[in-house]
Amino acid sequence: MNLLLFGPPGAGKGTQSTFLVEKLDMRHISTGDLFRSAMKNNTELGQKAKQYMDKGQLVPDEIVIGMVEEKLKSLSGQSFILDGFPRTEPQAKALDQLLTQLDLKLDWVVSLNVPDETLISRLTGRRVCKGCGAVYHVDSKPTQKSGVCDVCGGEVIQRADDKEDVIKDRLEVYRKSTAPLIDYYQAQNKLLDIDGTGATEAVFERIKAAVAK
Ligand code: AP5
Repeated sequence: MNLLLFGPPGAGKGTQSTFLVEKLDMRHISTGDLFRSAMKNNTELGQKAKQYMDKGQLVPDEIVIGMVEEKLKSLSGQSFILDGFPRTEPQAKALDQLLTQLDLKLDWVVSLNVPDETLISRLTGRRVCKGCGAVYHVDSKPTQKSGVCDVCGGEVIQRADDKEDVIKDRLEVYRKSTAPLIDYYQAQNKLLDIDGTGATEAVFERIKAAVAK
């Protein structure tokens, strides 16, 4: 089964992907994580992406599509979860073409619904490990020792795009460029609307039940 996790910034796409990878052995393809890793390694791709990400803007389609193509080609039969891609109509169309070309099928688009005020408090309170990328939240999932990752002992920081003014821009970009894809996938009969509020485990149970139908 191949899934696309869809939703605004802070909807829980990364968190739910972690559950899916652990429990259902799927490969996680997160364009945000790929860009952050390129930025950490200071590659040319990372330097280009940083210019857009720090301002909450989208990285140009041709860069993102090329990166996803490479990842899909390297799958060798494993089920995948797309997280944060596609985000524009050209990206969605390019994905359809790629899937046909590679003889792959997207089974479901899991759309996580969360009200704006919850998104903002999740994003402003999110902290991430600089070393392994583990995700925390100052209230709902704090680290055991302040500023230190429970998994690898690395430094836990706030993402540059999780500052309140950038969050507002990211939500605006989502509404304008990404939310219209809901209709795109509705028309393909692939959309599963999931309530993304409540405990993370409860959201995961909803996803599991919906994709099993
Ligand atoms: P990306 O990294 O994809 O960011 P995003 O879509 O904005 O999503 P987030 O990572 O912010 O949120 P999430 O839904 O994964 O939430 P999470 O699980 O972490 O993209 C970043 C940037 O890269 C973009 O702005 C753009 O510049 C660029 N980019 C990426 N893809 C691109 C593309 N395709 N095209 C162009 N540009 C692209 O949860 C958030 C917080 O909430 C965490 O602290 C978590 O612990 C907490 N939380 C989660 N679920 C719950 C819950 N149920 N209850 C309580 N707390 C919860």
